[in-house]
Formats: sequence, C-alpha cells, structure tokens
Amino acid sequence: MTETQVFEDLEQILQQGLAALEEVKDEAGLQAWRTAHLGRSAPVMQMFSRLPQLPKELRPQVGQRANQVKQALEAALAERGEQVRAASLQQKLASERVDVTLPGRQPLRGRLHPETQVLRRIFAVFEEMGFQVFRSRDVETDEYNFELLNIPAYHPARDMWDTFYTTRPGVLLRTHTSPGQIHVMRASAPEPIRAILPGMCYRYEQVSARHETQFYQVEVLAVGKNITFGDLKGTVNGFARRMFGQNVRTRLRPSYFPFTEPSAEMDVECFVCGGKGCPVCKGSGWLEIMGCGMMHPTVLRNGGYDPEVYSGFAAGMGPERISMLQSRIEDIRYFWANDLRFLEQF
Ligand code: PHE
Repeated sequence: MTETQVFEDLEQILQQGLAALEEVKDEAGLQAWRTAHLGRSAPVMQMFSRLPQLPKELRPQVGQRANQVKQALEAALAERGEQVRAASLQQKLASERVDVTLPGRQPLRGRLHPETQVLRRIFAVFEEMGFQVFRSRDVETDEYNFELLNIPAYHPARDMWDTFYTTRPGVLLRTHTSPGQIHVMRASAPEPIRAILPGMCYRYEQVSARHETQFYQVEVLAVGKNITFGDLKGTVNGFARRMFGQNVRTRLRPSYFPFTEPSAEMDVECFVCGGKGCPVCKGSGWLEIMGCGMMHPTVLRNGGYDPEVYSGFAAGMGPERISMLQSRIEDIRYFWANDLRFLEQF
C-alpha cells in the first residue's frame, strides 16, 4: 500500500460519510448513519486496525489523519443532528399549533334518567310529609300480589291486572306495588306506618304509547289509629300541590279496587290547557294520576292489624305518567328504550 493511497482512502471515507449524511432526514437515519460511518466496522475504524500492517514510519501520520477524519465525521454528525432536530421541531410546531381563539369543547355531562328525576321529586315530597321509603320485591307470589289484597282466585277483578306468570306455580312478576303493603305491615305491626314503596311493575300488556310491559309505581301507605278519608285527601292534595304547584286544582272520583273501600281516583287539572280541555286531557280538563282509598279491613287484618282498632289509607301512582304530563312526553316507550336523543333532553 502506498503512502498516497492510504491518504486517498481516508479522504474518500470522509467524503462518502459527509455525502451520506446530507441524505439523512430524521432520528432513525442519524442512528443508521452513526452505525455505518462511526460504528465498530465503519471504514474509518477499520483503518485503525490496519495501522499495524503499515510501514512503521507511516503509522503516526496515518493514525493522526484517521483521527482527524473520525473527529470530522463526529462533528458533522453532531451538526446534522442539530439540523434534523430543529427541522422536526419546526414541523411539530406547525402541525400542532393551538388556535387559542377556537371555542372550547363542551365536556360530556352525565345526567339522571327522567325516571330517577321524577322518583326523587316524589320521594322528597313524601319525606317532607313524614313518609319513609321502603323497597319490596319484584318477583312475588300470587298470595301477596292478589289473595292477601282481597283478590281471590277467579275473582273478576283479576282482569284489572294482566299478569306475567313464571314457570313455577304461584310465582309471578308483581303487577303493582300493592303487595308491598302486606310486607310493610307484617314487618311493622302494631306500630303506625307512613311509608312509600317505589318499584318496577310488570304487566302482560299490548305495548302502546300509553302502555308498557314494565313501568314504575309508587305505593303510598299510612296505617294507625283514627286515620280517616280526610287524612287521605289531605295527603294526596298536599302531594299534588308540592309536586305541581300551590294553585293546582284536584278532584277525587269514586272508583273500585278490591283492597280499598271506599276507593277513588285522583285527577289533577290539566297543566297543558289549564282545565279548558285539550288533546292531552282528551277534552276533559283533568288528568288521572293515582288510585287510592281507605284500606279494606281484610287487608289490614292480613297485614296483622286489627281493623276494629286500626285504619289506614293507600294510594298508588305512576311516576312515568306524571313525568309524561309534566314534560309533555308523548310515548311511554321512550322511558326504557335507552335512546340517547331522548335521555339527553333531561
Ligand atoms: N295497585 C293499584 C293499581 O295497580 C293502585 C292502587 C294502589 C289503588 C293503592 C288503591 C290503593 O292500579
């Protein structure tokens, strides 16, 4: 190997390295270039291992030159690295620019289901009047759902409740919250009771805008000495005023339920037309919101209270009905359809 050739080789190594570095555009390219041009098997590095094969007098000069080439490559790499990083920072700044004048994005807010909202209102109103919330079971026996409520088998009044029966004889899905009356009485006798019982009820109905196969009821129950129809009226009227406004007009119409005597249904003045008559109240000016009555002596006795000593009243209302009237919801099926377009309106 001639003297000149070694130096030419070194020069070529430097030039090729610098030329290749020009092409490097990113971090990965820098890494690859470092391995190829400054790594263990890079040409400049191999030059060092070739030194012992050179004539003795040539070694210091070649070694020195090789060192210079290596340092030049290192310096070029550092410089290129700066450029690449600066360029990628510029690009990042341009692409990730924040427009501080853009309006902020509304975070998604959770909300309570309209059913939960109306139930909480009802609970608050009754709690204010001294009533406690009780929970009863969804799966009931024929005995509790009907018989203990003075509705024997084959009684024509059973027609009022289309029932989902289970495959186990005598076990059914409650058709109303009234069986809870018996549970509460049996758990409380002979103490006086002021309770409300909310819960899902199930009926084998033809589904329509006004009828669902499942819906809520809130049962109201008061048992004690000297409880009169006047107490019933005062309680349901107090409820209506707190729920719908101080000046709302109400009326009780005679009705029939096997577990109350006398029985009534309560109407409130239609809040859509103010009592003049409109499609919502079907021209009557009144909206029915609950069934109620004085507890039947048989039911009191079945609950463990002597009807000669105790009396009581009960009422049952449909919260979806109330929510529908207040918010003018036209179809009860919206409640359990889980359609966000509906739920987001509350
Ligand atoms: N349970 C009755 C129904 O489902 C409502 C009601 C409850 C009526 C309590 C009177 C007393 O229709």
